[in-house]
Amino acid sequence: MINNGAHYTSDSISKILIQALPLIEPTYVLDLGIGDGALSKQFQNVYKTSNVIGIDINLQNKLKNILINDSKLYQIDLRKENIFQSLQITKLDAAISNPPYIKLKFDSNYKKLLSEIKILNYLNLNNFNTEILFAAYGLSSIKKNGILGIIVSDSISASHTYKGFREAILKNYKLIKIIDIPERSFKTTEAKTTILIIKKIEPVKNYMVTLCKFDPKAKVKNLKIQSNLLHETFDFKYWHFQNNQNKKLVSLNDLGAEIRRGSFSHKELKSLKSKFVHTTSLDYGLTNINGDRRKAEIRQEAYANKGNILLGRVGRNCYRKIGYIRKGKILISDCVYKIEINKEYQQQVLDSLQLKSNIEILSSICRGVCAKSISKQRLMKIKFIQLENASA
Ligand SMILES: C[S@@+](CC[C@H](N)C(=O)[O-])C[C@H]1O[C@@H](n2cnc3c(N)ncnc32)[C@H](O)[C@@H]1O
Repeated sequence: MINNGAHYTSDSISKILIQALPLIEPTYVLDLGIGDGALSKQFQNVYKTSNVIGIDINLQNKLKNILINDSKLYQIDLRKENIFQSLQITKLDAAISNPPYIKLKFDSNYKKLLSEIKILNYLNLNNFNTEILFAAYGLSSIKKNGILGIIVSDSISASHTYKGFREAILKNYKLIKIIDIPERSFKTTEAKTTILIIKKIEPVKNYMVTLCKFDPKAKVKNLKIQSNLLHETFDFKYWHFQNNQNKKLVSLNDLGAEIRRGSFSHKELKSLKSKFVHTTSLDYGLTNINGDRRKAEIRQEAYANKGNILLGRVGRNCYRKIGYIRKGKILISDCVYKIEINKEYQQQVLDSLQLKSNIEILSSICRGVCAKSISKQRLMKIKFIQLENASA
């Protein structure tokens, strides 16, 4: 069911979150955005003597029949009301939440809250997701050593925008577990989500974080990654391939490559009436392209030149759309990346991009719900190139 930008949690995902909470006989749990009580119901199934404090902008009647013991419900809009002023909430054992995905503009109240839980200085944004606000309320309402279990979107767990948030969590709290939930696990959205289990305790400088995959068919289900590396992304797939020590793979960054996208949209290029490359000009596999030898009519950066490797930047399976400029120069759209790299590595990069065994590695850097895209930073850093003389 969808309500206020909400995608309700299924029984199986609720169980996974609750079972991952390392709690001993908790008395109070706060459920932020309790909805139909999916998480709280599982919580009280496991911890039979616990009491729920449920908060939602829109309380459902059936909750009264679901919750047990001395549980309490409050109708509160968390964007507008400070729960610490409205309720006597302090020192809870745990907080749980599957927050809605809504954008908020920073104001002085949000800033105060985020500063108190040591997150504000890591965010350099004009607006932010409600997920951050719900996480902030969760972290400030639990006692020392208390646990927050929260479901976050791919944007929070993997995008460049929220790298600072991830860093703040890793530096100021102990991130105990990251659980990867596959796409299409929520009936109402295709979005990929991740469960974070966070302990409110100052961590040691560099600790190991467990990443788990919620997929019965997955061969590798657990990874351990150092906390000082993890802010890059919480994505299981990415670390699975980065962690693979058997092969000596290198990244485009290791080989001194430069990556740029085209300067013009597809629409703009069509109006220019010059030859150009867009994603639709690239086949799956390799497309060899002959450019033009005439003088550039537009600024030089808009063109891909002889020896440049092209890669689709947006669209499903864009990482399989590969091009190579055999001669001359040609305009490229902003949906295509050009990779400029020393001649001696060009063939090896082209071969590595086409390797079947690399498809999964490259797909791990594609993000987005329906319209997939590859970020330049990830493409630079992902290790997928096998060098013949593996000395680089
Ligand atoms: C994704 S649903 C999760 C519901 C339930 N906890 C679950 O896991 O299925 C998010 C919930 O947050 C509530 N919500 C949305 N905006 C809110 C706000 N500003 N303040 C409090 N609750 C809000 C929605 O009504 C919804 O019930």
